[in-house]
Formats: sequence, C-alpha cells, structure tokens
Amino acid sequence: MGDPATVAESGFDVVPTGAAIGAEIVGLDLRALDDATFAALRQAWLKHQVLLFRGQTMSDDDLVAFAQRFGPLDRAPASEYDASGSQEKSRPDIWIISNVLEDGKPIGALGADEAEWHTDMSYVDAPPMASVLYSLEIPPTGGDTSFANMVAALEALPADLRAQIEGKTLNHDSSYTSTGQLRKGADPVTDVTQAPGARHPMIRTHPESGVQSLYLGRRRNGWVVGMDVAQSEALLDALWAHCASPRFAWTHQWRTGDLLIWDNRSANHRRDAFDASARRVMHRCQIKGDVPR
Ligand code: OGA
Ligand code: MN
Repeated sequence: MGDPATVAESGFDVVPTGAAIGAEIVGLDLRALDDATFAALRQAWLKHQVLLFRGQTMSDDDLVAFAQRFGPLDRAPASEYDASGSQEKSRPDIWIISNVLEDGKPIGALGADEAEWHTDMSYVDAPPMASVLYSLEIPPTGGDTSFANMVAALEALPADLRAQIEGKTLNHDSSYTSTGQLRKGADPVTDVTQAPGARHPMIRTHPESGVQSLYLGRRRNGWVVGMDVAQSEALLDALWAHCASPRFAWTHQWRTGDLLIWDNRSANHRRDAFDASARRVMHRCQIKGDVPR
C-alpha cells in the first residue's frame, strides 16, 4: 500500500497492482491537476508503465486536456477507422473504441472480439508514446484489458532467444487491426516479407529511462527482416509464448469512470472478447512518440 508521506507530498497515493506492471493512483480528480502534481504523476507513470484512475468524470475536452499534459496528441490514422466512416464524424483527437451500432453502423473501432497482444500503431515509423483509455459504458462481464511488462519479459528472456534477436529488426504489418479485421484500403497479406508497415529494432531503448524492452508489435504477419520465413515464424512463436506468460501481466476489470494510461513503448496490451449485445463505450487519446531505437 502507498506510503502516507507520498500522499502528503504529492497529493495522491500510488498503489501498485501487485502484479508485474501497473499501479492505481488514488485521490486525484484528473480535471484539476497542478504542475507539481502532474510532474509526480509522470514519474509514477514511467515507473509503473500503466496507471489506473477510478471514479473520474471526464468530458472529451477534459480527456484531451489531461492527455496533452504528456505531450502533443497523435490522431489515429484514417485506416484505423471503421469501414462505415462513422468515426470521421467524431473529433480527430478522440478515438472511440466501441461495439455499439447506431443505424446499423459501429460508432467506434474494435467491435466486441478479442484483441490480441499488441502495442499501439507499431506499424508506423513513430508510434504513439502513450494511449489514454477512458470508460463511459462497460458490459457486465468480459472486455477486461491486460497489460504485459516488456522490460521484465526481456530481462527474463532465455539467452539463446536473446542472442537470436540482438541487433535484429522486425517488420510490423499495418494491414490488420488487433481484432484481426483487415483495415480499410489494405490487401490481405500472403507473404510476410512483403507486408506493408514499419521496421523497428526488436529490442528498443526507452527514450526517457534508458531501459531496454522487447518490442514486438503484434504476432500477426510479423517478420524478422532478412530471416528465412519458417525460421522467423518459429522464432516469433517462441518469443510470443514467452511474453504471453501471466508472470509479466496484470488484468484490469473495468468500471465506468475508469481511466488508464499506458506507456506504449514498453507495455503490451490485449482485450478479452465480450457479449456483442452488451454495450462498451470508451474514449481514447494517444500521445505522439519517437522513432524506436
Ligand atoms: C486500444 C485497445 C483495448 C480495449 O484502445 O488500443 O487496444 O480494452 N483497446 O478496448
Ligand atoms: Mn490497442
């Protein structure tokens, strides 16, 4: 549990999840943060990689204002939007994650299916530094979101696997969403060596902390650049089997009014499926990041 001295100094309490990643911040209204409190919060975020705030009441303007304290916002690329085009109607700095249909069209992205382990938008040259997800409506069960500590996953990586990825680059396919949908305008991938996207080092160094982590994007259509495809597939399967271990993970069960911010450089996330007839509505911002090195 948090140290009461921390509360007195920074105005909030940091309660680690007890798992390999994440902490809950208790005692803050995110609509009213002074600079000193924000500076302390940013340090807690760098340390724990994922912060949870419960019981928040945030308008879209409040959400954008909070996210902008971390840095300039990124808008989701047009290819992330659902095929109906309904997402374009929302403001460009808020991305709706929802399965809800209006007039038969989804109001947001990602539907109700499982989202596989991934880090956001690793298929662009400069992926977001962070994503902020705020819950407005939550189904009675399902739709939990899990996070994995990729610093810990790298530290625990068997030496033979580490030797195989040291200095290697991975191709991150941009064709499919984390729920396996082909993006608007993309063609199905038949040869992973030709998949469109971006190439990044498989071990990246955090630009703020200097700590190394595994950086794998998502499993689907990954390719270790230059490697024979069968060898690349076997290596990626072994790496993902390692990373998916519960010992690196923490699972969040959502309530309405929860806000999560994750470090998209060093944490992976996934989402459980939920009943498609239930409503789940989240509003999301993302903060611009660096080219991974
Ligand atoms: C995302 C995402 C998970 C969720 O917003 O990037 O993966 O729980 N969402 O909806
Ligand atoms: Mn995501």
